Amino acid sequence: MKRFRRLRGSEELRRLVRETQIYKSSLIYPIFVEEGEDIKKPVDSMPGVFRYSPDRLSELLDEVSASKISGVLVFGIPAHKDALGSSAYDDNGVTQQAISFIKNNYPKLLVIADVCLCEYTDHGHCGVVHEGRIVNDETLPLLAKTAVSFARAGADIIAPSDMMDGRVAAIREALDSEGFSDTPIMSYSAKYASGYYSPFRDAADSAPCFGDRRTYQMDPANGKEALREIADDISEGADIVMVKPALAYLDIIHAARERFDLPIAAYNVSGEYSMVKAAAQAGWIDERRIVLENITAIKRAGADIIITYHALDVVKWLEG
Ligand code: PBG
Ligand code: ZN
Repeated sequence: MKRFRRLRGSEELRRLVRETQIYKSSLIYPIFVEEGEDIKKPVDSMPGVFRYSPDRLSELLDEVSASKISGVLVFGIPAHKDALGSSAYDDNGVTQQAISFIKNNYPKLLVIADVCLCEYTDHGHCGVVHEGRIVNDETLPLLAKTAVSFARAGADIIAPSDMMDGRVAAIREALDSEGFSDTPIMSYSAKYASGYYSPFRDAADSAPCFGDRRTYQMDPANGKEALREIADDISEGADIVMVKPALAYLDIIHAARERFDLPIAAYNVSGEYSMVKAAAQAGWIDERRIVLENITAIKRAGADIIITYHALDVVKWLEG
């Protein structure tokens, strides 16, 4: 008889043979920065998550930097929205202010800047709208301008999340020609049209006011297509590729891990977070166990970098 239980007999033995470890250095925490002053507003659909104005960001960043995770993914919420998302590429925009504030005051925190138009457009779509359609090629220069503006503000990594075709190449070229050839691109390569983003759209005020995102984000039924998207982003110059959401797409993370050798990020998105929080608040699950199990699963599937709203809790639990 095979006695698998021999190596499960004590926590010391189990720890010795554990295959998957979670490192603080692999974790990234998403933050929401709203234009204005003296704001710390809870996001109702995401217990424990708040929107901060730049002047109060330190309340959060002190905790983030003490946690020793690697960095933050910054989402800005501008006061002014228009059809072309002009606040996204305004050098004095709220996202730029937040990025430079973080780099000036917390130089060791990596700042990853999410590049998309949906938080900045009055229609809430991730690209330019023309006669009710989201047009690809007209969107690319705006994304490229936004990326350069974020890099100029001090962003360490540029993370396009819009899902327009060709945006990695357009952003790479713009960054290179503006003197940012050393700024890496982490592309949301396999980003699905997912129901798991709805709490985020409250957090970032970015829900589309007509239609949905299915003409640019991926169909959840498609796996092989994700590998084509990732391969194409790599050929356009992506340094890190992302799969999003994470938990419902562990097969995609795993397939990408087998096929590609550059760093893979996974985004444990808002809906995945809120479902765990809600069940924990109802007393139906043990939050700590479930979160560590989920993050371990994402890591075991093959992700090197995990973006998660649980990051600060995970660090406490790893230590505790
Ligand atoms: C913007 C963007 C979204 C998320 C990250 N960047 C929303 C969307 O595409 O609708 C989702 C993050 C989350 O749900 O936590 N394009
Ligand atoms: Zn978007």
